[in-house]
Amino acid sequence: MIQFEHRPGILDLSWGHPRPGLLPVEEWARASAAASREFGWRQLTYGYATGPAPLLEWLAAHLPSATDQLFVTAGASHGMALVASLLAGPGDVILVDSPTYYLAFQIFADTGATVLRAPADEDGVDPDALAAMLEGRRVPLLYLVPTFANPTGRSLPPDRRRALVALAQRTGLTLLEDDTYRELCYEGDAPPSLWQLSGGDGVVRLGSFAKTVAPGLRLGWINADPALITRLATLGYVHSGGGVNHSVATTMSCFGASGAYQRHIAAVRAEYRAQRDALVSAVRAYLPASAPGGGWFLWLPLPPGVSATGLLAEAERRGTSFVPGPRFYVDGVGGDDRIRLSFSHLAPADLAEATDRLGAALPSVAAD
Ligand SMILES: Cc1ncc(COP(=O)(O)O)c(C=O)c1O
Repeated sequence: MIQFEHRPGILDLSWGHPRPGLLPVEEWARASAAASREFGWRQLTYGYATGPAPLLEWLAAHLPSATDQLFVTAGASHGMALVASLLAGPGDVILVDSPTYYLAFQIFADTGATVLRAPADEDGVDPDALAAMLEGRRVPLLYLVPTFANPTGRSLPPDRRRALVALAQRTGLTLLEDDTYRELCYEGDAPPSLWQLSGGDGVVRLGSFAKTVAPGLRLGWINADPALITRLATLGYVHSGGGVNHSVATTMSCFGASGAYQRHIAAVRAEYRAQRDALVSAVRAYLPASAPGGGWFLWLPLPPGVSATGLLAEAERRGTSFVPGPRFYVDGVGGDDRIRLSFSHLAPADLAEATDRLGAALPSVAAD
């Protein structure tokens, strides 16, 4: 019934999924009943093309954004597929940050475009090297997760944000900003989005309720200039089937308007902050680790001579797992000296036990 596969005996640090006990089962049921009362049959018929007005209005106030810059999607992955298929196709190049969210690679490849890595260093995409790469060639799209990234947890520095936006506006490149982790911040506020810095020109932003509320809602949104929103809203399948995920979207509007969203975000921030701290302090017994300001991941360097792929087999033999670094590079080259651990899915005691299993695996691989 569910995507997550529980492997007996494995305390898994690879899943970037919410902790099941933190999913808002009761509050969602209340929002669902409220939506049925408030919207009646309107919740169960075909929805308005860009999303139901109550959700668009709540999002517009919450983000903030103008309502004509919003299109409700079935999650960030759906947003990637929609935007990529409108802006790119066979013969085009789509650039991706390196390392980055690896499940995006196939979504972009599905358009028939060639997916290549953008020049990047420890701080993220390098605007000067990118400008040199773009010289004399048309590239429609660059995908990046500039805020609390998957897998690094880092955020792109402010000067690079400004330089990338200026470059996009100069060259016609569209920056596809995946802003999935923005609200999962644990110290102060998240940095301004590329979308906000751009004034809506040269940037399309993707949002999702998958991490903040629940992945099973399959609900998110696209922030884009009104012309692109109109193109999305007039696609054949919207014309035929109406707005995406209309019933869940109307329930989400009640979850937002009742204050349940704000209460839930405050609660899960505190829980994920505690899980982050538990994993960081457990890991420090074995590997250098710093605490990311947001998101769900630690991106850890391995000791010299230890390969991520080699360590994975030994870790799984000892009852834990993680995602090896090369997975996050579109060409699979690089990152074998890094691993991604997720602190989202396990409670603090299990995070500590999983880390001890990983720590026990390290010496045998280092000695190989
Ligand atoms: C950076 C990033 N984008 C998108 C997604 C998927 O989002 P959704 O479930 O809304 O499609 C994930 C989930 O792991 C992610 O880490």
